[in-house]
This record gives sequence, structure tokens and C-alpha cells, in this order.
Amino acid sequence: MDTLTIAIAKGRLGKKGIKLFDGSEYEIIMEENSRKLVFNNKNKSVNYILVKPSDVVTYVEKGVADIGIVGKDTILEDNKDVYEVLDLDYGKCRFVIAGFEDQNIIKKNEILRIATNYPSYVKSIFKNKGQSVEIIKLGGAVELAPLMGLSEVIVDIVETGTTLKENGLVVLEELDPISARLIVNKVSYRFKYDEIQKIEKILRG
Ligand code: PRP
Repeated sequence: MDTLTIAIAKGRLGKKGIKLFDGSEYEIIMEENSRKLVFNNKNKSVNYILVKPSDVVTYVEKGVADIGIVGKDTILEDNKDVYEVLDLDYGKCRFVIAGFEDQNIIKKNEILRIATNYPSYVKSIFKNKGQSVEIIKLGGAVELAPLMGLSEVIVDIVETGTTLKENGLVVLEELDPISARLIVNKVSYRFKYDEIQKIEKILRG
């Protein structure tokens, strides 16, 4: 049997993803406090690699990993050539446009400044709206941008809404729903179909 490689996003999403394999033949053997990046299951039929979310999609697109577990936000931003085969139904949140309550999203002949971690996604959203934008890419704490006058609005993920609320911001428009997804390399999907089906079944369970 060919060895299968599964890329998992580091962090909260990945931790829960790893647990989904517990009790199955694909259960991941982890070592506490280890800095290792590659793990196996008991019979070593699977390699698990732990990487940054956007690298999950890259590894799967290039075929180095057959399968990946990653958030829909990363899939929408990176727009890579992979199959998205399953909504894992956890890590639920949503993309929104947010800002101060009286802020217009459409400013006819003016440029709207938008702070975000997701520049490509934002570009596609506002292209559809026909609004000219200046996209300001930030690394985190995007909610700070309107407070400091760096942007008029933000596009970010919202889960409970607490961060927006505590910073005096509101949702101006709801965009795509987000959750953890199972992605598969297109060639692997053909040539390792049975194995991938087995994994899909476990993750559905
Ligand atoms: C995410 C997101 C928001 C926050 C939303 O940030 O970017 O800031 O969570 O969650 P809430 O609606 O439940 O308040 P994260 O905590 O991942 O850190 P970051 O700001 O560094 O991206």
C-alpha cells in the first residue's frame, strides 16, 4: 500500500482535526512537547505534516501531501487547484465586512480603504461590487485599523463577535461562511481513491 501524506493546519483547527482520527487506524501518534513536524499512525501507513494554514493548500496542490485539513478562509484566499471534498463542520465562523455603524461600503467615486489578512479574497469581493479599494494587508488585530484611522473598514473572520463589539465596530455585511474543510490533491483523488474514501468516511463519522 502507498504511504499517504496528510497536511494539517497548525493551531486550533489542526488540534481538533488530529482528534478526529482518534480510535481509528489513522490515529496520530504525537509526542508531548516535541518540535517534530512529521508524525505517523501506528502502522506507519500515513505521514502527517503540521504546517501553516496556507502551506496546507500549497502542499496539497503540489501533490506532496495527498490530503489536507484547513479552514475555508485559507481556501478562499489562496484559490489553489485542489478538490474540496468535505465540510468538517467545526471551526465555524464567517467572513464579514465590518466598521463603524454609519460607514458606507460603497463610496461612488472615492477609494475605500480596507484592512485585512485576506487581500486576494477582498479584491474579488469588491471587484464584484464595482467599488475601488485600497487593500491594506495586516498580520493580525485587524480591528485596530479603523480605530486608528488606517482604514474605513475591515474584512475579517468573526466567530462570537466579541472582538468587534469590544472595539465599537459592527458587521456591515455578511460574506462567506467558514469552517474546517477536507481538501484533496486532484491526482491523488484518482490514484488513491479507496484510501481517501476510507478517510472521508472516518471524518464524516
Ligand atoms: C480572529 C479574527 C478576529 C477574532 C474574531 O483573530 O481575526 O480578530 O478572531 O473572533 P470573535 O468574533 O470570537 O471575537 P485571532 O484570535 O485568530 O487572532 P488575530 O487577530 O491575530 O488574527
